[in-house]
Amino acid sequence: MQVPLLDLKLQYAPLKAQLLKEIEAVADSQALLLGPQTEKLEKAVAAYCGAGHAIGVSSGTDAQLVLLMALGIAPGDKIITTPYTFFATASCVARLGATPIFVDIDPVTFNISVPALEAALARTPDAKAIIPVHLYGQCADMAGIMALGKKYGVPVLEDAAQALGARHPLGAAGAIGEAGWFSFYPTKNLGAFGDAGMVVCQDAALAAKIRALRNHGMEVRYFHKWIGGNFRIDAIQSAVLNVKLPHLDEWGAGRRARAAFYRTAFAAHTLPITLPAEVYADSGVANHHIYNQFIIRAPRREDLRAHLTKAGIATEIYYPLSLHMQECFAYLGHREGEFPESERAAKETLALPIFPELTEDQQAYVVAQIAAFYQ
Ligand SMILES: Cc1ncc(COP(=O)(O)O)c(C=O)c1O
Repeated sequence: MQVPLLDLKLQYAPLKAQLLKEIEAVADSQALLLGPQTEKLEKAVAAYCGAGHAIGVSSGTDAQLVLLMALGIAPGDKIITTPYTFFATASCVARLGATPIFVDIDPVTFNISVPALEAALARTPDAKAIIPVHLYGQCADMAGIMALGKKYGVPVLEDAAQALGARHPLGAAGAIGEAGWFSFYPTKNLGAFGDAGMVVCQDAALAAKIRALRNHGMEVRYFHKWIGGNFRIDAIQSAVLNVKLPHLDEWGAGRRARAAFYRTAFAAHTLPITLPAEVYADSGVANHHIYNQFIIRAPRREDLRAHLTKAGIATEIYYPLSLHMQECFAYLGHREGEFPESERAAKETLALPIFPELTEDQQAYVVAQIAAFYQ
């Protein structure tokens, strides 16, 4: 049996006719950037997550970059974030000449540790922002983070690239802090036909500035109020996302059902692996984990991965090297052992296949193969 990590063709097939019709309409209009499809998407995403404003951009990375530009982040500024995340979270900070101040993660959720954040803020009260990442589709401890942001007067910017649709008792991912962003990279729960992303924020003036910055800082054509960039979203990507967005909750439910199936199936074995924790399960909040990834901790991970590959089961490692150990960040002067939980997670975690079309037979096979490996 073959089990892919994700099979986007299965999502595409039932939507094909509608998607092609919308793409054809954009092609016929020859209005290829921004335009009415983008405005429709921005309104829909803002309403979906309860944000005041949404601005469509060219990727999740560009969403973060343009937001930090709009906030005036400049060389010498310090921004607190986690080292256990996708590279862009820290690289956007560094690209503006600012310094990422890393804070270790909570070993249960893989999200930024609130006690460690508090210690970092005490050392760095002049930090310009706190960037929690809602890794794998479950929100960071936003109650603790927002309280610390308030105490120190530091804005909270949410990297919700993996978490559109995830809810926390305080609200929806991306719309709890001052601003946030989503990625529509094809493997995300809501994926475009290429790169696309979105910034969400509560403040109208900030939204207007981001809107201008995504288009070279113009409010009036060819009059440049600020130095921005080309961060425009394609009309075709917006049209695709408009077709897919109404299905997002149903796909999230499909992912959660598959997570529950894994839990039940793994419970029949005694295995040394750790399943992902659902820390808001008792909060009464729906969609508290949207399982962009289903992440286990696994002893002898490399051997397990090789065993699963041989058995036709695809897996992935998100992420194999903590950001403080990346070559390009050597100038920050970090050393091994400085963020032990992040380093341990990088060595132990493994993503198993999860997507709404994954079958029970495939899941049972994944579980059986993992059980066989540890026998
Ligand atoms: C946590 C996180 N931040 C930022 C990004 C960047 O998004 P994009 O790939 O759309 O630029 C991603 C997506 O890969 C991500 O997972």
